[in-house]
Amino acid sequence: MRKIVIAGNWKMYKNQSEAKTFFSEFPTHLKATAPQAAIADQQILICVPYTNLSLLQTILPAIGQSNLSIGAQNVHWAENGAFTGEISASMLIEMGIKYVIIGHSERRQFFGETDETVNKRLKAAQAHGLTPILCVGESKQHRDANKTESWIFSQLAADLVDIDQHNLIIAYEPIWAIGTGDTCASTEANRVIGLIRGKLTYPNVTIQYGGSVKVDNIDEIMAQPEIDGVLVGGASLDPAGFARIVNYR
Ligand code: PGA
Repeated sequence: MRKIVIAGNWKMYKNQSEAKTFFSEFPTHLKATAPQAAIADQQILICVPYTNLSLLQTILPAIGQSNLSIGAQNVHWAENGAFTGEISASMLIEMGIKYVIIGHSERRQFFGETDETVNKRLKAAQAHGLTPILCVGESKQHRDANKTESWIFSQLAADLVDIDQHNLIIAYEPIWAIGTGDTCASTEANRVIGLIRGKLTYPNVTIQYGGSVKVDNIDEIMAQPEIDGVLVGGASLDPAGFARIVNYR
């Protein structure tokens, strides 16, 4: 049985007061949009800037939504050390954080992260009991050159060396669909995710789709058989919209 994980990625948005406002409104919207005999096993996750982690962990119990977690957007592989600007897995664990995004395309594109460092981060996260969300996906150039599959397979081969697939989430995020409004067709996302699953040793890994997920397309995306959730950037910033995404039909 594969677990459904609906995750938000706030990126570098929302200071503490904005985060508090979001969480004062989100639970009400969650209840208002809930259509289904709640999908009991569904995990809701919001990955926030480091500066919000501690604050939101203290707010969370009062919300009383046991399937809602706060996650981080990256983690370093070392236990500690002279790594200015980085955060270790034990620092996240100390705050009660359980999930962390690793290898997001923005980290790879703008901060020089490679498959090698992504693999090191994944290993460190798992060694501390964090569940990583590994992001993979092709650029427009790769897609246009018919290299989508080979690119993603090479990312998986390098990123997943010595990684425990039983404690892993993968997000398929085509780079050309991120923040562009240019969503990958849900059937195409389903196809690629099926191919990703075929490369895994543990086939029940939760595999999400990410890239311009919004209220308008969530129902169609979640209707696809291979897609076990979504990683939502821009549309996770709005409490009403994200609640509707969580409560897809
Ligand atoms: P987007 O971002 O939903 O704004 O396209 C997705 C992501 O980067 O994870």
